[in-house]
Amino acid sequence: MIVLVTGSSGLIGSEAVVYYGSKRAVVHGIDNNQRREFFGPPGDTSWNLKRLQAEVPSFIHHDLDIRDRPGLLRFFGETQFDLIIHCAAQPSHDLAASIPFDDFDVNAVGTLNLLETTRRCCPEAVFIFMSTNKVYGDRPNQIPLVELEKRYDYADPAYKNGIAEDFSIDQSLHSLFGASKTAADVMAQEYGRYFDMKVGVFRGGCLTGPNHSAVQLHGFLSYLVKVAQSSEPYTIFGYKGKQVRDQIHSADVIAAFDAFYNNPRCGEVYNLGGGRSNSASILECIDLIEQITGSRVKSTYSDEPRRGDHICYISDLGKLKSHFPGWSITRSIPSMIEEMLAVAVV
Ligand SMILES: NC(=O)c1ccc[n+]([C@@H]2O[C@H](COP(=O)([O-])OP(=O)(O)OC[C@H]3O[C@@H](n4cnc5c(N)ncnc54)[C@H](O)[C@@H]3O)[C@@H](O)[C@H]2O)c1
Repeated sequence: MIVLVTGSSGLIGSEAVVYYGSKRAVVHGIDNNQRREFFGPPGDTSWNLKRLQAEVPSFIHHDLDIRDRPGLLRFFGETQFDLIIHCAAQPSHDLAASIPFDDFDVNAVGTLNLLETTRRCCPEAVFIFMSTNKVYGDRPNQIPLVELEKRYDYADPAYKNGIAEDFSIDQSLHSLFGASKTAADVMAQEYGRYFDMKVGVFRGGCLTGPNHSAVQLHGFLSYLVKVAQSSEPYTIFGYKGKQVRDQIHSADVIAAFDAFYNNPRCGEVYNLGGGRSNSASILECIDLIEQITGSRVKSTYSDEPRRGDHICYISDLGKLKSHFPGWSITRSIPSMIEEMLAVAVV
């Protein structure tokens, strides 16, 4: 089996490299450490590349930019891939407004480059695109909410299990990031439906794990744990810190991808987050870290919410579980925090 992972030095890409490497696949990775360009030195992913090169014998790294169309065509001409996992991205909702061309060129055009190159060079490959819940824009904020002591939650019982894939993606505020990812998401669906390619689109909730080069603008839980261990305060932006995200470990993300690879469909869309059982507000995550470490987490509060931020987002995992009954969430939020604390201490 030959696998291609884009964004292979990032959180999700590196998890895919390790997983398929352990299955004795040849794993090619594309990453140009663009995360460092986006976020500065704390976003540098070269430490993770070195880790993969040391730990995964069948891993081959390529310092390629997914915006480089001729470079991709040359590269795809050399190898027939069975599986392509596309995770390279400008991943920050907030950063996109200051770099609109880079954001759209990487997220939307880069994805088109990969889809079209796949169609020309290995149309039978399974293609997985890592999308985002930001395709729903801020429309989830229109769902009536209840305010509890430490969190918001849905007041409408129709959303008890969270937001499903038929939720509207239209006519709401997305952020430029949400718009560029929506363009890529719809294009990936189209390659599945129009060209009958085996394309799966996974709309991520909050993805986390120990191998994130977390920064303030991206990688919420990992960054919170990092800040909690330092003497710096964590800044909460708006909604009293009661805004809810659902957390999923990168290993559970890759397990879902592998389930799709083994039973692919053309142009199918799945919401992929921690679901209700792994949903928590910022205040609740801070409480958990304090309980686990026994130390207080310093925080400051800014009354200005991040533009377009979700007040309460929980992924409905019903469709994913119905298509892939063997898949489930295996890591709880406390276990993820413990793992990140242990890695950070080493
Ligand atoms: N982390 C989350 O909470 C989250 C949530 C929803 C969706 N997603 C999506 O999941 C995917 C993976 O996210 P992640 O958290 O692993 O991000 P990440 O930033 O850790 O990894 C992305 C990698 O892509 C590389 N990259 C960026 N632009 C590139 C380019 N032009 N050419 C080659 N490589 C490039 C970066 O250097 C980085 O190593 C992204 O598509 C992101 O939008 C992430």
